[in-house]
Amino acid sequence: MAESFAGRVALVTGANRGIGLGVVRQLARLGFDVVLGARDAEKGERASAALRQEGLSVTPVALDVTDQSSVDAARDFVAGRFGRLDVLVNNAGALYDDWQRAENADLETAREAFETNTLGAWRVCIAFIPLLKKSGHARIVNVSSESGSLASMGGGTPAYSVSKAALNVLTRKLADELRSARVVVNSVCPGWVATEMGGRDAPRTIAEGAASVVWAATLPDDGPTGGFFRDGQPLDW
Ligand SMILES: NC(=O)c1ccc[n+]([C@@H]2O[C@H](COP(=O)([O-])OP(=O)(O)OC[C@H]3O[C@@H](n4cnc5c(N)ncnc54)[C@H](OP(=O)(O)O)[C@@H]3O)[C@@H](O)[C@H]2O)c1
Repeated sequence: MAESFAGRVALVTGANRGIGLGVVRQLARLGFDVVLGARDAEKGERASAALRQEGLSVTPVALDVTDQSSVDAARDFVAGRFGRLDVLVNNAGALYDDWQRAENADLETAREAFETNTLGAWRVCIAFIPLLKKSGHARIVNVSSESGSLASMGGGTPAYSVSKAALNVLTRKLADELRSARVVVNSVCPGWVATEMGGRDAPRTIAEGAASVVWAATLPDDGPTGGFFRDGQPLDW
């Protein structure tokens, strides 16, 4: 029988569609109370209502990771409702810029990718770490991409790749700094998944991509920290 996580609280950002929504569904099926973050509150409410119809414990919260006041309000909501956070999944992501190259990239696009993919996740971490420290079983999962792996990096998608490589740096920094507080922090690549970002030709389903993320969200207390994984297997940085 699958382990039960009843009573544990998870927050997933960018969760109104795509891999984030898949992660919410899988965590809720494991027994988590899941807070579904969406920058468009109406979309978040619609997605949550559909999951609640399946009998799952899902609560929406308005959360734009690029907006400090939105992140602070979401933190206050989770603090007021639950008093702590057990799992934070930084899933919100944008700007897979396959139309441009590093040699002549639009730096405004790079800045936007950084705002969401790197600083967005960082901002959410800073806001929620005090609540994660109250957990005793805290996990942070940064949804990254092999596009951000220096080991396998080629040309193309410059804004996205640089922002995800920097997100991986954040994973290493936080994993080390939070080790003594027993907060486990990892980067995960979901693989190439058929979502709006991944496109229709992608070979993996949302459920498969989400499972790769959920693996890291449900690691045991003595599980690995400061790593980069896909499907539970280490990836080269
Ligand atoms: N699909 C792939 O093949 C693939 C591969 C490797 C890594 N990833 C990563 O997996 C994660 C999820 O990707 P996906 O494929 O599910 O993409 P997606 O279908 O495009 O969904 C992206 C989600 O992020 C949200 N988002 C964007 N900017 C946001 C912001 N400022 N604040 C809050 N939410 C924001 C979107 O909200 P709206 O609906 O409001 O736009 C949407 O819910 C991303 O981090 C992505 O980089 C995906």
